[in-house]
Amino acid sequence: MVITSAVEVHPSNTEQLRAWDGEEGAFWAAHAGYFDRAVARYQPPLLEAAELSPGDRVLDIGCGTGGTARDVARRVPAGSVVGVDLSSAMLDAARRAATREGLTNVLFLQADAQVHRFGAGSFDVAVSRTGCTFFGDPVAAFANIGAALAPAGRLALLVWQAPSRNEWFQQIVGAFLAGRPVPVPPPGSPGPFAFAEPDHVRTVLRAAGFGEIRVRPLTEPEEFGRDVDDAVAFVLGVAGWMLEGLDEDGRAHAVETFRRAAEAHATEDGVVFGSATWLITARRADPGASSADGS
Ligand SMILES: C[S@@+](CC[C@H](N)C(=O)[O-])C[C@H]1O[C@@H](n2cnc3c(N)ncnc32)[C@H](O)[C@@H]1O
Repeated sequence: MVITSAVEVHPSNTEQLRAWDGEEGAFWAAHAGYFDRAVARYQPPLLEAAELSPGDRVLDIGCGTGGTARDVARRVPAGSVVGVDLSSAMLDAARRAATREGLTNVLFLQADAQVHRFGAGSFDVAVSRTGCTFFGDPVAAFANIGAALAPAGRLALLVWQAPSRNEWFQQIVGAFLAGRPVPVPPPGSPGPFAFAEPDHVRTVLRAAGFGEIRVRPLTEPEEFGRDVDDAVAFVLGVAGWMLEGLDEDGRAHAVETFRRAAEAHATEDGVVFGSATWLITARRADPGASSADGS
């Protein structure tokens, strides 16, 4: 186990802690509303898939700035929500927003969901909006999450489909990498696209003790900024590292290329790119029962 700052993480998650509890998390914390707006169209199907009841106890995995945890908290007025994340800055933003919104049934905890000792059976549902694909050992992580769920407890996860199916990713890398190789890690390795292959998702969740696994495709437009300047500033913040290795002219050209893409995608609803996700649902399997997942 590695202890950095206040949080204990599995060694396989040390790099993620460095990124999310460092500059990356600080940027996301300062721009909390951007991601909430970008994925806003996915929120209703994700919440519906969680099949929430007013008294449910809910875990939000990789809750970030807490947009989903807070939406869930409003739907479980007699229940409670715990959001866990690696980023102290994003959690601070989540707590501030919950206080502002008068929510008293949600709390936020800095923890590695792969190894944190949640109370056994202490949640009815675990949800995640693109926060559950960064684990160094996903089977261990989902086994840990499964143990935190009550028998037959539910999972509802939103994850990205492959990079090739996400126009936003294609447009950003097309502009910023300027023909250099795309830094997409091998399928399944930790990162935003780790759950892009449904067969891999099923293998991981089955091995972690889940059944009734369903993987449903969703596609939606995503807003990347209110206008072109806003989109350029946001994308420079989240993907500016892709410009490393380019000289000054190269950088200026890459940013200009993205600006032109943003102009071509500017609408009345902001700068909008296509996106594709999987909505995954599953249930903690009864160890005594057969493991039919019906998919
Ligand atoms: C793309 S962000 C999504 C944030 C949030 N779910 C949302 O929709 O706004 C991914 C989040 O996963 C968190 N994360 C990554 N690895 C984690 C781990 N091992 N345990 C808990 N959170 C983790 C990161 O800190 C980051 O905030």
